[in-house]
Amino acid sequence: MSSSIEQTLNQKLEKIFQRLKLDTKFAFVKNSDRPDLSDFQCNGALALAKPLHKNPREIAGNIAALLEQDTDIAAVSVDGPGFINISLDNGFIARIAGSLAGDERFGCKKVEKPHKIVMDFGGPNVAKALHVGHLRSAVIGESIRRIETFVGNTVISDVHFGDWGTPMGMIIAEIIRQDGSLDKVETYDVGAISAFYKQANARCKEDEAAKETARQITADLQNGNPEYRKAWKYLRDVSVADVKKIYAELGAHFDLWLGESDAHAACGEVIELAKDKGVSEVDDGATIIRLPETNKPMPPVILVKSDGGVGYQVTDIATIKMRVNDLKAEEIIYVVDKRQTLHFEQVFQVVQMLGIAPDVKLSHIGFGTVNGADGKPFKTRDGGVMNLADLINLSKEKVRQSMPKPGEVEGYGEPEIEKLVSEIAFGAIKFQDLKNNIGSGYVFELDDFAKFDGKTGPYIQYAIARINSILRKAQAQNLTEGDVIIENADERNLALKLMQFENVVFRAHEEKEPSIIADYAYTLAQNFSNFYNTCPIMTADEVQISASRLKLARLVRDVLKQLLYLLGIEAPEVMLKA
Ligand code: ARG
Repeated sequence: MSSSIEQTLNQKLEKIFQRLKLDTKFAFVKNSDRPDLSDFQCNGALALAKPLHKNPREIAGNIAALLEQDTDIAAVSVDGPGFINISLDNGFIARIAGSLAGDERFGCKKVEKPHKIVMDFGGPNVAKALHVGHLRSAVIGESIRRIETFVGNTVISDVHFGDWGTPMGMIIAEIIRQDGSLDKVETYDVGAISAFYKQANARCKEDEAAKETARQITADLQNGNPEYRKAWKYLRDVSVADVKKIYAELGAHFDLWLGESDAHAACGEVIELAKDKGVSEVDDGATIIRLPETNKPMPPVILVKSDGGVGYQVTDIATIKMRVNDLKAEEIIYVVDKRQTLHFEQVFQVVQMLGIAPDVKLSHIGFGTVNGADGKPFKTRDGGVMNLADLINLSKEKVRQSMPKPGEVEGYGEPEIEKLVSEIAFGAIKFQDLKNNIGSGYVFELDDFAKFDGKTGPYIQYAIARINSILRKAQAQNLTEGDVIIENADERNLALKLMQFENVVFRAHEEKEPSIIADYAYTLAQNFSNFYNTCPIMTADEVQISASRLKLARLVRDVLKQLLYLLGIEAPEVMLKA
């Protein structure tokens, strides 16, 4: 039996509804709104009352009377206007918990109709170092990628490199300005390239003519100038190699390393299509599409700029065309800063007007900013944008300070300590991010973010390590797992909590909200802690009780590990404290 508790209860209710000739559409339970009164509730009687012209309490009473005869159910009551409150029998809870322990998906089903999703996250740009703003896209995107894969969908992740916009022309112009030509381009490393970008950026802010040159070079590059293309390819390759390293460290997985530039051919098709459909017009030398205003002003989409270049919007529209035609995407999800909401609204509208992605679900998951203590986007001390690599180093240093030095603990030399530092630091960074609703910003916290108590990643990693240690001790004493027995409230609560796994995963999947998983992991770890305080494992009075608790402990460990995996967080076997 690996079906979830809800499914099992729903089946029981369905049979009863059929016997009573009630519409089985309403034969389902949800977690109780009053956990003090019951474990689950069914509100079906309320929905049925109106069409049947009956008193909901009467319908509920009939259902309850039959449900009461089921030995899996400890108590049923009809409360309020007709809620059916259901409490489960401990033996039943024990059986279900036992079945979860024997199931590698912990009772979690898969989606009924798996489909293909293209996920667009990461979004790095050539020559620009990843900054703190890129953290959320990678962390949230990776978590949603793992959740969607776990529920059975096929996910193709694409980093969508920013490699076709004006910054490219700016860097090339700057190199030509300083070197007199592009001859030396291929001697520059990432650091040198981003220094050129910084200088170009400063220059273009002040100097209209420099900006114009950069714009023209960008257009020429896009239209095939061989010299620019050659330099561009080098700049892009160096940036990709650099960015791959940091994403590997972050544990963000990309199936495709395509960029805006890969959509160039499709851009032409989009522009043609818009002309054929008669939705574009020429305005001041540019080709644009006007969009109907909704409740807010909708600026037009610029298909071709007056200098002949294509911009960020067209590359995105063309990329959708490719993802639908070539990759056969049935859904496309963007995990991109909330400040780009208007951009995606425009892009999706044009896609609809042009009929590029019929029946394809397009969604933009917009995240809030990572802020400093002042509530404004996180900055370095001198007011610049915080580099992602610097932020990671700061976090690691903080964690390193709370750890033993290499050699202080047997078996932990420098590589072992550094591996742990990295796992804990990323656990802390990612959990701090993912415990918040995606849409809201949060303050990046470096003081308590890696504490082993409180709602942190390391708290959960620590809970896992603690259970690992219990399991090692049990093994040393030849204690083996046995059938689950539920005798007291903490065992009962823990087992009931474990049964929510499927529900939690599916809510996180439906709402595209990893914080639901983060919350659950935290409460499950807390429940375990309560359980462990009152329910000794090795020293229980009877060996059957020890064996049952050992099985529960192992199950909690496995579920927590799975939850951390879904958040993109590692679970070290052992945690060390200074
Ligand atoms: N490179 C962009 C930026 O840094 C993000 C790209 C997001 N993805 C997309 N398909 N527009 O703002």
